[in-house]
Amino acid sequence: MHLTLKVWRQAGPTAPGRFESYDVPDASPDMSFLELLDVVNEELLAEGKEPIAFDHDCREGICGSCSMMINGQAHGPERGTATCQLHLRKLEHRGVREVTVEPWRAAAFPIIKDLVVDRTAFDRIIEAGGYITAPTGSAPDANLIPVPKAAAEASMDAAACIGCGACVAACPNGAAQLFTSAKLSHLNLLPQGQAERWSRTVAMVETMETFFGSCTNHQECEAACPKEISIDFIALMNRDYVKAQLKQRRLAGQTFP
Ligand code: SF4
Ligand code: FES
Repeated sequence: MHLTLKVWRQAGPTAPGRFESYDVPDASPDMSFLELLDVVNEELLAEGKEPIAFDHDCREGICGSCSMMINGQAHGPERGTATCQLHLRKLEHRGVREVTVEPWRAAAFPIIKDLVVDRTAFDRIIEAGGYITAPTGSAPDANLIPVPKAAAEASMDAAACIGCGACVAACPNGAAQLFTSAKLSHLNLLPQGQAERWSRTVAMVETMETFFGSCTNHQECEAACPKEISIDFIALMNRDYVKAQLKQRRLAGQTFP
């Protein structure tokens, strides 16, 4: 298939950016989108030009690093699919012949180079969450801590978040509620996560608010998420945050980080 790519090129964080066009006359529909960028980069290197910088690691939808806007949609048009899992046949079926590729556009994710952005703000939220005090060591008996099946499954769904940042990039407010709620919920739903539930919730939500915008229920995050994380987790996070405040745990002698 014949594709024309318009790719955002930016030499560094403060350099001016611009779109550059690349023609790929014989792309295989079975290529992934990252393999398409590999093909373009091989041509650029052969011509002695700077290749397009983009993040990637696992190339199987696990690491969350292959973050880019494809024709204005985070990770492209296929629902529940990370860029590395987006095959060109999915674009061919939609009659796409021109593709615009941009980095995430969000104030909290400054551009480092071309399609690579700095997602350190996500790390600050995780860091604020601290650790859980559930003992580690040898594997406990499977039934020692009974976990209701519904809670285990919901926790597992939340733990599917790969930290890609598509939810932030898709949100008109640049909000990180979906990411933060997923990271909170996979612990807050489990018995092992109860000891620090309230302090963790306050610390992560308040750290999130220092970097990201506010949620106004556009729901674009859920639509863009390659792991189809539900916005129900945002409701759970909001409820836990209010509860943590109402409990006045500071006065009860529990210190917050
Ligand atoms: S919630 Fe979804 S879109 Fe947001 S970081 Fe996690 S996996 Fe990516
Ligand atoms: S490269 Fe790891 S999720 Fe895409």
